[in-house]
Amino acid sequence: MKIFAVNGSPNMKKGMTHILLENFLEGARAAGAEVETVFLQKKKINYCLGCFDCWVKTPGVCVQKDDMPELMEKASQADCIVIGTPLYVDGMTAQTKTFLDRMIPFADPHFELVDGHYRHPTRHKRGNPLDIVLVSVCGFYERDNFDGLIDHMERMCRNLQSRFVGAVVRPSSYIFTLEKFLSEQIKEIKEAARRAGRELVEKGTLSPQVLDDVARDYLPKEALLKGANEFWDKCIKAGKFITI
Ligand SMILES: Cc1cc2nc3c(=O)[nH]c(=O)nc-3n(C[C@H](O)[C@H](O)[C@H](O)COP(=O)(O)O)c2cc1C
Repeated sequence: MKIFAVNGSPNMKKGMTHILLENFLEGARAAGAEVETVFLQKKKINYCLGCFDCWVKTPGVCVQKDDMPELMEKASQADCIVIGTPLYVDGMTAQTKTFLDRMIPFADPHFELVDGHYRHPTRHKRGNPLDIVLVSVCGFYERDNFDGLIDHMERMCRNLQSRFVGAVVRPSSYIFTLEKFLSEQIKEIKEAARRAGRELVEKGTLSPQVLDDVARDYLPKEALLKGANEFWDKCIKAGKFITI
C-alpha cells in the first residue's frame, strides 16, 4: 500500500499532531506500507482562486504556480491519503483546507448521479476508490470535539467519491507532554496508534477498539481542568507557550 500523508499543523515536528501521526505511520510502515509525509506549512500552497480554469481552460491543471502540482502527483499515485490536522475552531487547519480545496482539478466539472446524489466524476479513474484516513488531535478533553470535523471528512469523501476509512483522534493532546507523570499511559496511546496503522495496511479498516484505545481518557476530567489552568498560568507568567 502506498500512503501519502500530509501534516497540516503549523507546529510541524514540535506538534502533538506529529506525535500521533508518526506513530500511526510507523505501524503502517511496519506492516509493509510505503509512506511519504509532507508538512503543508513548508509548502507554498496558495488559496484556490475559484476561477474554474482547471475545469474549462486547462482541464486538470491549475493556473497557479506553486507547490501543488508536486503534491497532486504524490496524491494521484497513492492508494491512501492520511490527513493529519489538529482541530482548529472545530475544524481542520487553514493549511489543510487550502490543500484540499486545491485538489479540485482532480474533479471533472460534469454532474453525475451517484446513489441519488449529484457528484463530479473524478479525472483519475482508479480500480478502487481512494482511501482517506483522518488523524487529528485537540486540546479539549471530550472526544465529541471531533464530531464536526469527522462529519466534514465523511462528506468530503462522498463528494470526492473516496472511501473514508476512519478517524484516529486524540483529545487532551497535551497528555503527550506529561511524560514525567504519565509515561505508561502515553506508551499505550502510541502503541494503539501504531496498531491502527498496522490495521489499515493489513485489513484496510480501523476497528472501533483501536480507535477507542487511541482516544481513551486517562485523567479524571477535573484533574485535567486543574492541570490545564496551571499550565496556562505558567505560560502567561513566562510570556511564552511552553512546548516540549
Ligand atoms: C487557532 C486554534 C484553534 C483551536 N481550536 C480548538 C478547538 O476548537 N477545540 C479544541 O479542542 N482544541 C482547539 N485548539 C487546540 C489544538 O487542537 C491543540 O493545541 C493541538 O495540540 C494543536 O496541534 P499541534 O500540537 O500539532 O500544533 C486550537 C488551537 C489553535 C491554535
